[in-house]
Parts: sequence; C-alpha cells; structure tokens
Amino acid sequence: AYPEMVRIVEVGARDGLQNEQSVSTAQKIALIDALAGAGLKNIEAGAFVSPKWVPQMADSLDVIAGLSVPSDVELSALTPNVKGAELALQSGVKEFAIFTAASEAFTQKNINCSISESIERFIPVMELAKANNIRVRGYVSCVVGCPYQGEVQPEQVLDVCKQLLAFGCYEVSLGDTIGVGTPNKVQNLLSLLLANIPRDKLAVHFHDTYGQALANIHKALEMGISVIDSAVAGLGGCPYAKGASGNVATEDVVYLLEGLGIYTGIDLERLARAGWQICDALNKAPVSKVSLALKSQ
Ligand code: HMG
Ligand code: MG
Repeated sequence: AYPEMVRIVEVGARDGLQNEQSVSTAQKIALIDALAGAGLKNIEAGAFVSPKWVPQMADSLDVIAGLSVPSDVELSALTPNVKGAELALQSGVKEFAIFTAASEAFTQKNINCSISESIERFIPVMELAKANNIRVRGYVSCVVGCPYQGEVQPEQVLDVCKQLLAFGCYEVSLGDTIGVGTPNKVQNLLSLLLANIPRDKLAVHFHDTYGQALANIHKALEMGISVIDSAVAGLGGCPYAKGASGNVATEDVVYLLEGLGIYTGIDLERLARAGWQICDALNKAPVSKVSLALKSQ
C-alpha cells in the first residue's frame, strides 16, 4: 500500500547546484528561502567538502548564514570528514549527511578512499554529531549501477546500508547516481533491503538520466517507502559521475504524489516559481515536465 504521507528531501541547492556553474551566494540563498516558502521542510543547503573538489559548494557557510527560513525547516549539509563536520557545526545545521557508495571504484573517485576507509572517517563525524545533538543521514551511491564498474549487486548495497545504520544514521538514502535503475531492478533491491531493514529507515534518491526516476519512485511508493529525495527543476548531476543528469524534479514528484492522494504539504505553484527563479539565474529552462506545463497554462 502507498504511504499516507511522504517526506520530500529537497536536494536541489546541493546535488543540483554542485554541478551547475556560476550561481552567486545571493541566488542560492534566494532559492532556499523560496523552497522553504513553498512548504519544503527538509532542505539540503550545501556541502562542506573540499573546495578543490567541488568549488560550487565553497560558499556553503555564507549561504546557510544568509538564510531566513522558518524554524521548523530542517537544514542539512554534506560532511565527508571531520573537517566538514566542524564547518557544518559552525553553520548551525542540525543534520549532517555522510556519504559513501556500494561501489569501490566510485568511492575512490568521489571521496578518494575505499568504502571501509570512508566508514572509518565517519567515526569522528558521528562522535561530533552525537556530542552536539545532531542527527546524521547516510547516503549510499551507485545502488543499481556504477559509472566505473557497471552493475552493482543488491547484497553489496545491503551490506553498506547495514553498516551506516549500525553506526547511528537515522536513515539511509539509496542513490541511483547515474539513473540506470528500472522498476524491476528497484523492486529487486528493495525486496532484499526491506527483508533486513525497517521501512522507515530507507529513502530513495533517483537521478533521471534515463528518464526512469518517476517510474522507480512509483515502485518504491508501492513498496511503502515514504521518503523521497528530489531537486527543484531537476537541477544538477554529479561531478564524479560523468554524464549523470540531475535528480528527479521535485515538481514532478509532487504532482505524482498529489495524483495518488498522498500528502506532501507542498504548494506546487510556489515550488514551480522557485524553480523558474533559479533557472532564470542559470539561463536555462527547468528539467520538469510539470513546471513547463504550468508555465504554458
Ligand atoms: P582528499 O584530497 O583525500 O582529502 O579529499 P585530504 O584530507 O587529503 O584534504 C585535501 C585538501 O582538502 C586539504 O587542503 C584539506 O584541508 C581540504 P590543502 O591542505 O590541500 O589546502 N579539505 C577540506 N576543505 C574543506 N572542507 C572539507 C575538507 N576536507 C579536506 N571537508 C575529500 C577527500 C572527501 C575531502 C574529497 O574527496 C571531497 O571533498 N570529495 C567531495 C566529493 C563530493 O562532494 N561529491 C559530490 C557529493 S556526493 C553525491 O553527489 C552523491 C549523492 O547525491 C547520492 C547519489 O546521487 O548517489 C549524495
Ligand atoms: Mg545525487
């Protein structure tokens, strides 16, 4: 059965903008404020990663300091190591996100270490979080396929998910980083995971490279998953997954959920306006069919 309500985790300002060029700090602030205005309650606001690796996220401290979102909006940021966690703490976000992958090759390219080394690095991040009452979300990338080593087995995903949960993550988000998943592959993966992990500890994070994200989300909803990551206007990609396109567009997800009678608390019109605002700044159109359709009405 479908869940009654879904929590959307808006990742456009991070996953989206980490892969877009020349967005000013003020434009990022305006985007996140507009997303909060549209009713989004979980917003990933930036990444405390090496500015040499991802220069687009170098102003995350200033972005977060400039926000004026209501106090019930939960902001999070990526923290790959203790240095990132210290900066995130300074920023005042109440949620860290640690990230690794189900593929060794991708982990090396993305964070320059092995999967087990990444888990080691997260130990002090988790300690800092616990000492400061911060919750920690975990990401597993390449849950269906990897741009460097091809197909990824569900057992490998389960293994990494279990480690992150045992470690103290409140939730693990399953990243189809290069968007190669199809509903039957998602079903296969989730069947194994749900036999071993409580449903409410899993989120899905689909990139739309092959146009399958909404179909995959529908499958995940049917299997009871109630947390969905998405990016307004379908922004972005991943700098370490060549050819990857953006996340599924939040507008499209909200339209799907409304059609299924599932509560989101999001104002679709305002959300679409937030998308157009950032796309105007980027000098492109949203990658969201719903947004384009609303605009042409
Ligand atoms: P490294 O080079 O192995 O680390 O990078 P290092 O400790 O040797 O540090 C190198 C330099 O970076 C040093 O500076 C550090 O101070 C600095 P230098 O002495 O050379 O001047 N540094 C930092 N600066 C700011 N903040 C930090 C930080 N850490 C080190 N936190 C590292 C390792 C993890 C830092 C690097 O590989 C990195 O930043 N990777 C980030 C990659 C990234 O952001 N990828 C995109 C996000 S993940 C994603 O998109 C997938 C997801 O959406 C899910 C999905 O779709 O699958 C989540
Ligand atoms: Mg992603």
